[in-house]
Amino acid sequence: MVANMIAAQVLLKPDSVLGLATGSSPIGVYADLIDRYQKGELDFTQVRTVNLDEYIGLGADHPQSYAWYMRHNLFDHIRIDRSNTHIPNGLETDCQKECKRYDRIIRSLGGVDLQLLGIGPNGHIGFNEPCGEFVRGTHCVDLSDATISANARFFESPDQVPRQAYTMGIMGILQAKRIVMIAMGRGKAQAVRDMICGPVHPEVPASILQLHSDFILVADEEALSLVHPVSEDD
Ligand code: F6R
Repeated sequence: MVANMIAAQVLLKPDSVLGLATGSSPIGVYADLIDRYQKGELDFTQVRTVNLDEYIGLGADHPQSYAWYMRHNLFDHIRIDRSNTHIPNGLETDCQKECKRYDRIIRSLGGVDLQLLGIGPNGHIGFNEPCGEFVRGTHCVDLSDATISANARFFESPDQVPRQAYTMGIMGILQAKRIVMIAMGRGKAQAVRDMICGPVHPEVPASILQLHSDFILVADEEALSLVHPVSEDD
């Protein structure tokens, strides 16, 4: 379903700006897009992409970096101009410089047409972690203990999970024309409930998506298990 939405976006606007996510949720979507590309149904030569985030301290050659993930799961298998693909530079130690550079890129692309998102078990989007305020622009974030342990499955041990990351800010995400989120499994149920049914609050960063006019959630039954259907009495 999500691959259909992305395919439609690219077919209707071949130079679309796609906001891309990493993690386990979009892997099937990327595999489906590769399949369509190989069948000649999709052309990515004019597509521009901007990723949500990157671990600080991991270079593009590190197998757990998001730059590596994107090459391995998508870019290496389709014809796309690499200079049109953007990911924060995890090796840049000057945080301010990197965040400004990334925000300039997002602006120069004219904003995102379709933003793909996952959701963290703690309600994060990108690496916008629960905190006291919504942060607008790209910023450097200290990863929460919950995120470090959720992402430890991709590393040999939790000690190896980087403690910081660059992430696109809430404004970069919200300015996308359309936002599509994938949420799968019981581990996401509380976050999905808080996102949809709770107040819009920076302690649940995904709750800001309630304010977006074109937000689509694609979720399985387990992820939706705590969201109760509205009854006539409600
Ligand atoms: C990844 C990202 C994160 C993930 C989220 C869910 O680029 O921005 O917000 O989308 O942590 O991760 P998975 O899909 O592995 O459950």
